[in-house]
Amino acid sequence: MEPIRTDIAYQECINADCRARFDVAEPLFECPTCGDLLDVRYDWSSPVLPKRLEDFEEKWSVPGDPLAFSGVWQYHELLPFAPPQNVVTVGEGKTVFQQADRVATYARMNPGRLFLQYEGMNPSGSFKDNGMTAAFTHASLVGATRAVCASTGNTSASVAMYAAVDGRIPAIVLVGSGKIAYGKLAQALDYGVRVVEVEGDFDTCMHRVKQVAKELGIYLMNSLNPFRLEGQKTIMYRVIEGLLWDVPEWVVVPGGNLGNSSAFGKAFRELHDVGLISRIPRLAVIVADGADTLYRIVNEERLAWNDGRVDDARIAAFYEQMDAEDRRARTVASAIEINRPVNLKKCLRALEWTDGLVEKVADQEILDAKAHIGAGGFGCEPASAATVAGVRKLREADVIGPDERVACVLTGHPLKDPNITVAYHTLQEQAIRETYEAYSFHGAPYANRPIPVPDDLDKIVHAIQS
Ligand code: F0G
Repeated sequence: MEPIRTDIAYQECINADCRARFDVAEPLFECPTCGDLLDVRYDWSSPVLPKRLEDFEEKWSVPGDPLAFSGVWQYHELLPFAPPQNVVTVGEGKTVFQQADRVATYARMNPGRLFLQYEGMNPSGSFKDNGMTAAFTHASLVGATRAVCASTGNTSASVAMYAAVDGRIPAIVLVGSGKIAYGKLAQALDYGVRVVEVEGDFDTCMHRVKQVAKELGIYLMNSLNPFRLEGQKTIMYRVIEGLLWDVPEWVVVPGGNLGNSSAFGKAFRELHDVGLISRIPRLAVIVADGADTLYRIVNEERLAWNDGRVDDARIAAFYEQMDAEDRRARTVASAIEINRPVNLKKCLRALEWTDGLVEKVADQEILDAKAHIGAGGFGCEPASAATVAGVRKLREADVIGPDERVACVLTGHPLKDPNITVAYHTLQEQAIRETYEAYSFHGAPYANRPIPVPDDLDKIVHAIQS
């Protein structure tokens, strides 16, 4: 393949009335001209890309090259904003793409048609590493000296891991007090970053982290940062790779801050524009019904991308109403407990590019689906399971056909949130209702209950054999 050409990359405002352009060397997380989101864009007109996606197979056999080993940087040609010497990689993206027939039965799909993309297999336990390797690479390119993020857990663990491994860019993470799953808090603490517990939820932390980044000039690692999304595009390249360079009919992803959905739409649009794929799959973004801003905006308010002229006044009115009603996000899927998704507009764009849709599911549906994903393979944390719950619902409504190929992106590892998993499998219905009163989680029809026995061989044998 040709050497990487970084001179084709630039940043551009997504707002059609602005479209201001900036150099990739500028550390920005919003357009300095109009405040809207930024894209990383490339001038693909020079011959810098392989002719066929199959050509990326060359990277499978390059011994000793950390960039070829990384599931992100094996696609460096499709995110060429930094030269190889700036890349900060820990071997992320070596994830698993699995045909999941037992889960397919639960989701009402025919065998061989449902696929799970296990992004929890990343080094820090979530899809975030795909984006963080790109953001740390950019941070190294611009000479950042500190990094900061707000997080419901996975972002903080990923930032903390890269900061610890790289050693040049110390990090600070803002988490909502009591709003971070145990497994993730454990990682951030262990990796030695500064953890600031803010009284409030993720939306509060996200608001504050932007102020902190500006006031102290610290590099922002949240998915507002367009370089994060460049790394997350590669999840889709690996889905295509998993289907031996074919595209599925559907890609299903949980929606929180809407970075993934935005990145996936961009990935497909770019591949299509340069002729590397001939068809774009449909994107289904699944949110929790206790954190359903996107669902309301798309399905009730009927707001759309509108060629880059999104109706900002109606979005502002929506949030004003939300504040007036004091509607805070609430779901057991803490990763997506977000009511003000920062990438909302990019997600609207992705929905248009992919003829996509938005569905919402209850906590009960999420946890039941999660039990089936766990029983069918490597498992996941709750937000990831919203995908399979969403497919089941979309199958019931016959939006997805039983023979269409569906790729569900499982974004995080089951050990993120062991508390909810153990609660599902051990608590009786009464205890569930009491403990999770504020959530739409009422029972555990698919619980795999442990069997308590005294220290008695006959009783142990009976427990095994019965
Ligand atoms: N799934 C998991 C496991 C997550 O951790 C997140 C986001 C999402 C889905 C939502 O993804 O923003 O691309 O729509 N977690 C963030 C965090 C907020 O701080 O770890 P999105």
